[in-house]
Parts: sequence; structure tokens; C-alpha cells
Amino acid sequence: MISEKETVTMTKPSKWKELSSPITMRGVTFKNRMMRSGMYEGMATERGMVTADLESWIARQAAGGAGCIFPGYSNVALPRCMPFQTGSYSDSHIPGLKKLADIIHSYGAVAGLQLAAAGRQANPNLFFSDAEAVMGPSAMGPSPMYAAACREMTEAEIWKAIEDTAAAAVRAKKAGFDVVLPNAAHGYLLAQFLSPHTNKRTDAWGGSPEKRFKFFDEVFRAVRKAVGPDMLVWTKISVDEPWDDGINLDEARIFIPEVAKLVDAIEISGGTIVDNVFMMTRGEIPIGTLKKGIGSSVGGISAGLIDALYGMRDSVKFEEAYWYKHAVALKPLCGDTPLILTGGHKYPATMNQIVKEGTADMLSLARVLAAEPNFPNEVLEGREDPGKCSNCNKCLVEVVLGNKLRCFLPDPGYSFN
Ligand SMILES: Cc1cc2nc3c(=O)[nH]c(=O)nc-3n(C[C@H](O)[C@H](O)[C@H](O)COP(=O)(O)O)c2cc1C
Ligand code: SF4
Repeated sequence: MISEKETVTMTKPSKWKELSSPITMRGVTFKNRMMRSGMYEGMATERGMVTADLESWIARQAAGGAGCIFPGYSNVALPRCMPFQTGSYSDSHIPGLKKLADIIHSYGAVAGLQLAAAGRQANPNLFFSDAEAVMGPSAMGPSPMYAAACREMTEAEIWKAIEDTAAAAVRAKKAGFDVVLPNAAHGYLLAQFLSPHTNKRTDAWGGSPEKRFKFFDEVFRAVRKAVGPDMLVWTKISVDEPWDDGINLDEARIFIPEVAKLVDAIEISGGTIVDNVFMMTRGEIPIGTLKKGIGSSVGGISAGLIDALYGMRDSVKFEEAYWYKHAVALKPLCGDTPLILTGGHKYPATMNQIVKEGTADMLSLARVLAAEPNFPNEVLEGREDPGKCSNCNKCLVEVVLGNKLRCFLPDPGYSFN
């Protein structure tokens, strides 16, 4: 459980005017422009049920003042990518999800739920998984992180994945969430269909950008039909991947105008989980923490993988607002659909400027809120100092290894007992 500690005192009220201003989408008002980006907590049970630890963590994050809170992504079907991931694949998950939505609402924030299917990123070593069930748009050799090969999905399996996502969206609605976000970022199934690297199909679902977009199109049409006109439907989408033939800015320029027609807001991100997760977060590659994974149930973490990741360290160096130039390029292609920018927001002045200049309509924050849950409140109160997160990425590797999310700074703004 998490206990509160003293937080930094307030400074100049309303200094960051644009960041503090509300925004309304489809009749839902967000009290400010900061949201807690989906951040896998590793706090659900083996069957994906919400626990008291997860409720407590989400309460702490929501108390921090962000206008919108997304718990870590939920899985719409088995097998899963992460061990203690929250489920949205069964009606039995609805009561626990409702507790999270109620907690978020009690702090005046909008509640969002991410939905993801693992596809080739599934870990067959986890509970209720099997290697045969690891499948993606096209057959591929062992994934670097889980050493799991995937087989090609059949037409029936593709339609089942679409139905699974729509059914999970209905569960999110029944649980009281305001926003549902099928995740097309970080190498999950939606991204796998979009990416020329992972989608080599030559049927209706692959072979050209239009055909690779078909799965996305069908999923979002099915979700909208299932949840009706009142619920917000967003996506998070990768605009860069760690391969020469993966999604890049040129590919994103083709997809984004079509995406904008289907969703109420677009959060942009990049990278994949099983190939180079540090492209998603940027910063240090915590070799010592990674080494703890060799021989663990995670499966593929080997000295070779760690060397390969370390070899990529220069390409994942931390920069403030590291997807900013992608946002500059893509925002004009979004039409009236708001753009949400994740990745490396630490400096309040820059954050306010990004919203003020209109490059992004909202900013989504992850590690900075793991390090300092009260960061949004302090920014709203005029904080100028950057967030304390050092981008060591230990939190990320620890959750991949099956541990609960926490910050490893000596003074993270809360304590566990
Ligand atoms: C521990 C951890 C878990 C994450 N889990 C998710 C997730 O469940 N869904 C998601 O879309 N992104 C996830 N991310 C990525 C974040 O949402 C965010 O896009 C990224 O960390 C960049 O933001 P930051 O620089 O503020 O951390 C995760 C990141 C971390 C560090
Ligand atoms: S462990 Fe803490 S300091 Fe390190 S990246 Fe995670 S949140 Fe930031």
C-alpha cells in the first residue's frame, strides 16, 4: 500500500494558463490538459482482477491533479503480454474496473481505459497462455524479449480479435469509464497490422497501406457501434518503430488523416515492447535490473539481448518532449481531432508552451507521475522546477519482470509499506 508524504508547497497560482485550461470533447470536460498516460502497474491478479494495491495506486495518481487518468492497459483476450495485467476480457472484470472508474471520478478526473491485444507480443510463459496462441498478422520468428515465435492469424481469428475489442469496450462502458482507447502503439496487435515490418499479408488485411489499415478501421467501427455515440473513443498510435521497414513518420502521415476520422483524440507514441522497449520511454538502459531477468519466467532475457539493447543506447537517449517533432508534423493532418502528446514531459514551461502554440491539445505523462504523483497539482499551482524522474527506466524493467510498479528514486513522493 502507498502512504502519502508531505508534498512541495504551492507557488504562483495559474502561471501555466494554457496547461490549466479545461477542454471539452463530445460533451466530456477535462479540468486541465494533463493526463496520466496508461502505465502498466503489475498489480492485478493472475486472472486480471483489480486489487486493493491497484485501487490505492490509482487513487494516489488521481489525487495528483491530472484531468484524465488511464490505468495501465487492459488485455481484451488471452494470452497477455505482461504477467499481472488488468483484464477486460470477461464480464467478471467489470466490478473491479468500476472501482477504478469510481476512484478516478471521485477526484474530478475523466476516466479512460486502454484496451490491447498482445498478438506477437504475448508471453507464452505466463498463466493461462500457450505457445500455439501466440499469433499475429504474419508468422514471425522468436520475439527478442519473450523468445516466442508467432503464427499467422486466420481470417476467423482476425474477426474474433475485432469482436473481443468491441466486447471489452462495452465492459469499460458498463464499468463507468468515459473514454475507451484501443491501443495501436507499442507493437500491440493494432500496431502489428499497421506496420509493414510485422504485416506481410497479401490478402485483404495487408500488402498496401490501405489494406494494412483495414484492421484498425474495422476495430474502431466495431467499437463505436458497440459503445454508441456518447462515449469517447481515442487511440494511442505509434509513429515510429525500431526497424527500417517499420512504421515511421512517412507511414504515419498516410494513416493519421484516416485515424482522425474514426476517433475523438489521437495520442502519439512509438516503439514496441518486445523489440526495444526503451524507444517508448527513452533514457537509461538499466543493465543491472535487466540482468535479474536472465533465467526468469520472462523467457527471452539473455546476455545477448541485453548486449543488443545496450548497443542501441545512443538511439534512445532521453530528450525533453521526445515525440515533439512528430507532433509538429502530424498535428496539421488531424483536422479538428485533438492530438495528445506523450513522452518526456518534465519542464512545466515547455509543457505549457506546447499547448499554447497548439502543437498538442493535451499532454500525457507517465514516469514523472510514478516519481511524483502530485506533479500535476504542483504544476497547476505554478511549479517551475522539472519533474524529478531521472529516466533510469528501472520501474519499466521491474514491471516486465513481474514486480509492482514503483519509482526507484530514494525520495519518490510516496512510500510503500
Ligand atoms: C512502467 C511503465 C509502464 C507503461 N505501461 C504502458 C501502458 O500500459 N500503456 C501505454 O500505452 N503505455 C505504457 N507506457 C508508456 C507510457 O504511457 C508513456 O507513453 C511513456 O512512458 C512516455 O511518457 P513519460 O516520458 O512521461 O514516461 C508505460 C511506461 C512505463 C514506464
Ligand atoms: S524508476 Fe523513477 S526515476 Fe526511474 S524512470 Fe521510473 S519513475 Fe523515473
